[in-house]
Amino acid sequence: MGRPRPRRLLRASFAIFSLAAIAAGGPAALGQPGGKPADPKAAPAAPAASPSAGETLRHAARGRFLVGAAVSSWGLNDPKVAGLVASQFDSLTAENEFKPASLSRQPGQYRFEAADRFVEFARAHDMKLVGHNLCWHSQAPAWLFRGQDNKPLPRDQALKNLKDHIDAVAGHFKGKVIGWDVVNEAISDAKDEYLRKTPALRAIGDDYIAKAFEFAHAADPGAELYYNDYSNENPVKREKTVRLVRELKAKGVRIDAVGMQCHFVLSDADAIDKLDQSIAAYAAEGVKVAITELDVDVLPRRGRVADIGALEKGGDNPYKEGLPPAVAEAQARFYARLFEVVLKRPGVVNRVTFWGVHDGASWLNGFPVRGRTNHPLLWDRQLKPKPAFGAVLDVLARP
Ligand code: XIL
Repeated sequence: MGRPRPRRLLRASFAIFSLAAIAAGGPAALGQPGGKPADPKAAPAAPAASPSAGETLRHAARGRFLVGAAVSSWGLNDPKVAGLVASQFDSLTAENEFKPASLSRQPGQYRFEAADRFVEFARAHDMKLVGHNLCWHSQAPAWLFRGQDNKPLPRDQALKNLKDHIDAVAGHFKGKVIGWDVVNEAISDAKDEYLRKTPALRAIGDDYIAKAFEFAHAADPGAELYYNDYSNENPVKREKTVRLVRELKAKGVRIDAVGMQCHFVLSDADAIDKLDQSIAAYAAEGVKVAITELDVDVLPRRGRVADIGALEKGGDNPYKEGLPPAVAEAQARFYARLFEVVLKRPGVVNRVTFWGVHDGASWLNGFPVRGRTNHPLLWDRQLKPKPAFGAVLDVLARP
């Protein structure tokens, strides 16, 4: 690799945080393994220790796909995290702030302040913003699909609420997001059940998914539309996802990509092969694939799924004091294999978004067991790049 690219100037409302941190020797160094700020007065630099010194993910991807991060408002408020996000990634997802429950508690009442900060941050740092999500059974207000008695609303009322919600939200962000996770996690984990019995399905029927896509397209015709789910690398869910894509296409409904969350577990030896096969299966249906919520859990797990209802009671917490180097290396190899698969089909996987930036803020410290110390991402708790970061850059640097 050549010399580090000059850092992009940080602009707009977050510049104030970012520039203060740069002055403090913070994020200016964050793109560099080891996190050492460059000293302009230093003697001529020694040859780079690694081919990836100074390289960033967004640059290393060379336009082949977007590299994204999901961040919380709290993360954006931290100047060091904000600097890291702006320098390393060219796509942004709000970890919670676009979800129905974050935007609306009462029918017709919307608060967009927290979400709008993501719009501003993405604009200021030349990042593509992804909307997550318009329709989900979790983190959604009851008023959408249930009455005061908690029973499903009549179909017409529930359809109207779904349309009003999508009009309000996709309308507000029209032209500001590149696309929407229109429906999240609608496919059942049960082997013999096609769709999850969500409040939307109980009130509207199976076609709530197609309706949500139609409403989203009408509200923002320029936005890409995604169906997003976890565990859809696994063959059973893969088949159901293919069925859903075919049904939507048969109805003439626009769907651009399948979102594969890819909340992986390091001990799942087959995960990458299954991912490879699923990408091929979705591509054969004529849709793109986005990896939307990537992380690699290093802690022991009972269940495999990333269903946020599936909290486990107890669990070992073996890496409280830090990640042993051998585990960090195994995780690096896991990530490297994943990016090899991504690069195998140019033009099919058009985005890889990590669900978080550094280990300290990952949702996996609280899921599926609360209060553990997980290490699933590319940067550690001190915002130092882990072996996985270098491993990903090495794969991306191959000709
Ligand atoms: C998670 C967030 O990371 C947490 O902060 C929140 O408490 C629960 O939701 N699948 C999804 C994401 O689609 O929205 C979830 O995000 C993780 C699982």
